[in-house]
Order: sequence, then C-alpha cells, then structure tokens
Amino acid sequence: MDSENVLVGVIGGSGLYHLDNLTFVKQVNPETPWGFASSPISICSLPSGARVAFLARHGPHHTISPSAVPSRANISALKSLGVRAILAFSAVGSLREEIAPGSFAIPTQIIDRTKGVRPASFFEGTSVVAHAQFGDPFSMKFVRWLEGKVEKALADEGRGVVLHKDKCVVCMEGPQFSTRAESIMYRAWGGDLINMSALPEAKLAREAELSYALIATATDYDSWRPHSEAVTAAEVFKTLQSNADTSRHVAATILDELHLAALQGDLLSEEVGSMRFSIMPMK
Ligand code: ADE
Repeated sequence: MDSENVLVGVIGGSGLYHLDNLTFVKQVNPETPWGFASSPISICSLPSGARVAFLARHGPHHTISPSAVPSRANISALKSLGVRAILAFSAVGSLREEIAPGSFAIPTQIIDRTKGVRPASFFEGTSVVAHAQFGDPFSMKFVRWLEGKVEKALADEGRGVVLHKDKCVVCMEGPQFSTRAESIMYRAWGGDLINMSALPEAKLAREAELSYALIATATDYDSWRPHSEAVTAAEVFKTLQSNADTSRHVAATILDELHLAALQGDLLSEEVGSMRFSIMPMK
C-alpha cells in the first residue's frame, strides 16, 4: 500500500510529537503553495496494513508558537497525501469544575478569540471571495463516531480517564495565558475549554473539504477559580506526558477502524462538496 492510501491524518499538539506505538514507515515533507508543514510528516502503518499520516503541530521539538503554526501548509500537505479526515489533538485548559485536568473532551463548538494575526483562509490574498459554512466547526458525523470509539478506548486503558462531549472550546491568541477576568468572561460566554490551536486549523480543514475533529486533553483549570493559582506553563507540563500517553493509546486503538470507516462510508467524506456554493460568482 503506498501513500495514496493514507486517508487519515493525525495532528499532534503539545506533548504529542510522535505516535511511536505505531510502526514507522517513512517521512515525507511535501512543499505546498503555503510552504512546508510544521514538521515532516511521518507515515505509519497500522496492524491491518493501512497507513496514517502524523504531523506535529508545533514542530518535532516544540519550536513553533501557536500564533506561528503554518496551518495552511499543514492542511494542504496532509490533503496532498490523499488524507480525507484529520483527527487533531490539543492540550486545553478547563473552564468547568467537572472537566478535571487529565480528562479528555471532544468539542462541538468554538469561540474565536484569535486576533487576526493568523492567516485563516486559503483564499486570502487571492481575488476569490469564499464563505465556508462554519456553524458546526467540527464534522459532526465524525465527532459522533469518535465519541463511542474514544470512550471505549479510554475504558480499555483502565486509567479512569473521562471523556466529555458537546463542549465549547475558546481558541485564544496567546502566547500569554488569560487574565482571571477573561477566564471568568469565557465561562459566562458558554466556553468549557480553552486552547490556542483549534483555529485556524478547523476553518482551513473546512475550506479544504476535509473531515475534522478534535480530541482535547485537559491540563489545567485556567485562571477562573477564585482560590486557586492562575495557570502556569509548569502546571500544564505536569499532565502533558500522561495525556500524551493516553492520546497514543487512543490513536492506536481507533485508527484502524477509522481508516476502514473512511474506506466504506460517507463518514469521512461529509465535507466533500461543502465549498461548492461558497465562492461568490464572478462576472
Ligand atoms: N492550553 C493548555 N492550557 C491552556 C490554557 N489554560 N489556556 C490556553 N491554552 C491552553
């Protein structure tokens, strides 16, 4: 099987720089019209022989800040390999008491608090005006499919990691964490989780007509709790390693089935054609 058959791409966030529990096949580094991806892409084989692509969002040694991630190149590079569905992982802060550090969530909504410094469209700088549907920023068939599979994988792992569903992630600019006032405001807005990486990745995946879902891994309680210390990088690092280990277990458990689902049904082609009427007509 060659890289033409790579239907599923995985993007790893903070702490998740490789899927070393899968069999490494080769690295590729395609140049795209938007330059090179954050990291060379590792092609790994699954027990069934199917292949998946893995990309480290912040680079293999975490040298790329959230504001500088070349998201257009990342999405474009994965698509150029034939990827149709992207499973992304990201460390997040929790804005809710019940989402404890160490737990996982699959969000269904995003609030955009990035500040316009990240190129967020493939059409930017062109003469094409396009408006993608983004009311549901994640691919809902993919999300619903994942929920059951991830829940089962977490139960099998036996470490008691809980999966939260239907949550809203606030994507902020950084690199500084939020103030206490901002953290409290995001809760009032309906935010449940906070990170610096869901956007523009999700927007670009939609423009590229790729299925996209996020597994959010909680590392901290951000800064809203009145009697707790505000979040620090050191606190985030504490849970990063065990969250990454669990993420690798989840990936190894579900990727074969995801590849099969991509081959068999419309589960992972739900965005195909979604841009058809998004481009403003040219006279
Ligand atoms: N990533 C992990 N924890 C975070 C937080 N509290 N705020 C923003 N991004 C994060």
